[in-house]
Amino acid sequence: MAVEHSLVLIKPDAVQRRFIGEIIGRFEQKGLSISAMRFLQATQTHAEAHYAVHRDKPFFGALVSFITSSPLVALIISGDEAVSVIRNMIGPTDGRKAPPGTIRGDFGCSLGANLVHASDSVENAEIEASIWFPNGEGIVDWKICDEAWLDAD
Ligand code: RTP
Ligand code: MG
Repeated sequence: MAVEHSLVLIKPDAVQRRFIGEIIGRFEQKGLSISAMRFLQATQTHAEAHYAVHRDKPFFGALVSFITSSPLVALIISGDEAVSVIRNMIGPTDGRKAPPGTIRGDFGCSLGANLVHASDSVENAEIEASIWFPNGEGIVDWKICDEAWLDAD
């Protein structure tokens, strides 16, 4: 089993629309597990660090103001190949193009208000985890008891 850790944000639009439980529930039902979870108001510093790769894009300002507009939930979610599994579960960036069954496809019709962020690589997951959980604070290393029933490969 290739356990990976993905940094997930339940964005302000999803929090305001009361989708926290629905979104975390999907990851739990998939057999992934939570290694860290924070409900917080993102600062300008969080936002600029998190979206540093998009610094030079025309939509950078809108992105930062959206992600800092209202509280969000930051999580580290772990499991077998968690990075690609979670990217597939959230779907393509634009909710209008995201297929049904994905989080963005089921709950949104927007490019900006697209409910969730998930790391796009293991390397970026580590960088992003250090932004939202500095010095590893809040990360819990634990074993879930149904693991043997989730992996019969
Ligand atoms: P995210 O980082 O939020 O998980 O989304 P993503 O990987 O699917 O998309 P990415 O290319 O990393 O873009 C980050 C966020 O920027 C907004 N965006 N706006 N106006 C535009 O052309 C444009 N392109 C991207 C989206 O809200 C996206 O989530
Ligand atoms: Mg991205």
